[in-house]
Amino acid sequence: MDSNFAIIQALCRSALSSTKEMTEHQVGRLIENYRKSGKDKEAKSLEGILLNARKVQPIEPFNFVLSSLEGDMLTKSTSIPVDKETSTPILEIIFQDDLERDVPLFNDSIQTAVDSVINEWRNYDKLIQLNASPSKSCLIYGDPGTGKTMLAKWIAKSVGLPVVLAKLDGIISSFLGTSSRNIANLFRFANRYKCILLLDEFDALAKLRDDPQEIGEVKRIVNTLLQNLDARSEKGFTIGITNHEKLLDPAVWRRFDVQIDIPHPNPMVREKMLSKFIFPLEYSQQELKFVNWCMHDATGADLRKLSDWLKRMYILEGSEKRNMLELMKQFATMNTGRVSKRITDLLNGDVSNLYNELSTDAYLQLKQKDIAAILEMSPSTLSKLISKKH
Ligand SMILES: Nc1ncnc2c1ncn2[C@@H]1O[C@H](COP(=O)(O)OP(=O)(O)OP(=O)(O)O)[C@@H](O)[C@H]1O
Ligand SMILES: [Mg+2]
Repeated sequence: MDSNFAIIQALCRSALSSTKEMTEHQVGRLIENYRKSGKDKEAKSLEGILLNARKVQPIEPFNFVLSSLEGDMLTKSTSIPVDKETSTPILEIIFQDDLERDVPLFNDSIQTAVDSVINEWRNYDKLIQLNASPSKSCLIYGDPGTGKTMLAKWIAKSVGLPVVLAKLDGIISSFLGTSSRNIANLFRFANRYKCILLLDEFDALAKLRDDPQEIGEVKRIVNTLLQNLDARSEKGFTIGITNHEKLLDPAVWRRFDVQIDIPHPNPMVREKMLSKFIFPLEYSQQELKFVNWCMHDATGADLRKLSDWLKRMYILEGSEKRNMLELMKQFATMNTGRVSKRITDLLNGDVSNLYNELSTDAYLQLKQKDIAAILEMSPSTLSKLISKKH
């Protein structure tokens, strides 16, 4: 099958459901694929179409109403339930206008899974008419900073529903029995309105398990959670997020119709993220590849941090003064949790070792002159340095 067919399918789906952001995103993927397979002409032509469409058309609102979904509409004046003992709100409402239009970027297989959830939820009315019970709950798990919260909000944005975000600091009460009551109140609220219930970082409830004093209370909490998740499956959409999927009770885990493991981005997705995040700074393709290589195994959040830092350096120190190698050395020194020790050692070590790594990396495919440009030395100086070593 044509390697672009999965994208074309997703493109047709999003075009037919007339959501401009989703369509633009799919066209972007198609351009990327054409470029990767050397079809620059096709990529350029599609890029022209995309840019023109962005110029001419106003951005469409995402809001549309799922009439089969039970519940009242949330408004700014809807009152929010609080913990009875401390008066802390147990939830927060995020309305459509406050959800960002920023599309998260993922590896292809995850993208397809995400598109499929969005598509199912957007077509809820049609599926219900056919008695084709659509999935209603999704568990998103993965390392910190991989874009889980961003994804949940993006799903809500795409489906056109407000988010009811569970506030764990309000729910977990130090008073015996109160936490369970708060959970029940949270679900009662979510079931009453058209919304997506978002249980972010909800392994926090399971973590209480560590404390033997709390065992009875935890059992109550988990049971309440299970009962309410079961009842919720008839009512509306739920997204659960966790970093610690192993801590989550297996019974809770099973309650979710769809489970998506968000991995760290692959080199291609990292490249896309970097080009997006560093805008409006301009780096050459080779420089971007080098930065990408330095950040292998980074998450989206790490790349965002790096990009913000590069922008600050650009403003504070000027663009001409520093070369990419110097910048990445400094970033690595200040971000030992984001850049691996092996890369940091290579950056700070002998140039010829660094050259060997860069020139043999399958993804980078950098020529000697590209590497010389990154290291800001003439190709002949680099040649001399390398031959001296061998
Ligand atoms: N896949 C991604 N696509 C685009 N941007 C991303 C992605 N992952 C992370 N980011 C960037 O990093 C920021 C933080 O991501 P987010 O809070 O969604 O991560 P998370 O997985 O929820 O992390 P945590 O587990 O720590 O809560 C985002 O606002 C975004 O700028
Ligand atoms: Mg998060």
